[in-house]
Amino acid sequence: MPTHPLRDDIRLLDGEWWASQPYEAWSWMRSNAPVYFDPVGETWAVTRYEDLMAVEKDPATFSSSRAPRPHGLPMAMMISMDDPAHAQRRKLVSRGFTPRRVRDHTETIARLCTTIVDRVSERGECDFVVDIATPLPLLLIADMLGFPPESYDDLLRWSDEMLRGTNAHDPEAMEAAMLAAIEFREFQLDVIADRRSRPPADDLISVLCHAEIDGERLDDESIIMESLLILIGGDETSRHVIADGMLALVDHPDQKQRLTDEPGLMEGAVEELLRWVSPIKNMARTVTSDTTLGGQDLHEGDQVIVVYPSANRDPDVFVDPDRFDITRNPNPHVAFGFGPHFCLGASLARLELRTMFTEVLTRLPDLELVGPAEPRRASNFISGPERMPVRFTPTPASTS
Ligand code: HEM
Repeated sequence: MPTHPLRDDIRLLDGEWWASQPYEAWSWMRSNAPVYFDPVGETWAVTRYEDLMAVEKDPATFSSSRAPRPHGLPMAMMISMDDPAHAQRRKLVSRGFTPRRVRDHTETIARLCTTIVDRVSERGECDFVVDIATPLPLLLIADMLGFPPESYDDLLRWSDEMLRGTNAHDPEAMEAAMLAAIEFREFQLDVIADRRSRPPADDLISVLCHAEIDGERLDDESIIMESLLILIGGDETSRHVIADGMLALVDHPDQKQRLTDEPGLMEGAVEELLRWVSPIKNMARTVTSDTTLGGQDLHEGDQVIVVYPSANRDPDVFVDPDRFDITRNPNPHVAFGFGPHFCLGASLARLELRTMFTEVLTRLPDLELVGPAEPRRASNFISGPERMPVRFTPTPASTS
């Protein structure tokens, strides 16, 4: 049982709570209850940077067996496994995500960004989330996986619905998420059958279909779950950094101007945007043996989440943490996590972000908000704005 004070506005499994961006609550938790137990969600939250690192660095005590969600059922995907099984799974696909292999996508990403901005540039207005932030990560990861272009709309709908279902207080959303998972599975079984009937190719689903671990092929369930993880990891994350990151820049016009004038600052600016936004709000771990963290006794089986956006505003690590500063240095943020599960797609995400922010700042320099960026997704896992009406001086499409 916790020995810290409780606050009944802190609801760790409630998507609305995360959507409200509870920075004040996180700050209070870091100071008063850095390892906080929510009796309703029956989950501990780790909010300080140092404690988060202690958890991420000690998978023997803090297992991923039920990750990524607290109280989750074990799933056939790398994020829900511990080493050595985790490492074997990760190795099957990690070659496609090394910085070198990611660099091979540079031109494709640049072309996609240009096309995406071309589609709205003459209109002088658009929904920044729907028209600009969402398509790039989706098109890229769906193509790398090897899904046919005619499935992209469905893939987006399924992954969105599955994430909207990560809200313990919304049974309707949870049911829609279940249906989306069933539809994705049926669709994916056909894709898997197709890949198995052909010789090995470069796309990730083909790689998963033909890979062997200890002489055995992956079963359908494992291929479905690994590709779902890569799809959601890819398309539901960078999107929010593009959207919330643009909001941060619009809110700080001096820094937006500086970044436009000095493109050399882009690399560091992307790190600050990642720290600032932290689109994955938390990851779950299961305690394997009794231990103490942040002054609290944790017991075998306890569910713990590490809260990335809180660690990324920890004043013990970041000078003036609530100041958005594109030149912040050093910037050891943990938006991509840490340790064995460190984000597989980090290099890809960084390249997407650099390219898209460069494209938007260059081609739509006076972009401004014309209404609130609402609603924010009510997810206890990955959250960001669902809509963001903007306007800008119309400019010709580059290809016309
Ligand atoms: C801005 C974008 C992104 C952010 C903020 C992000 C964040 C994260 C975080 C926090 C983790 C968990 C780390 C941990 O447990 O310590 C993770 C894992 C993962 N991410 Fe990302 N991610 C992003 C983009 C991507 C992309 C583009 C992909 C595409 C492949 C991807 C695929 C994955 C996978 C497969 C894992 C699980 C790795 C494992 O279990 O070993 N992510 N990511």
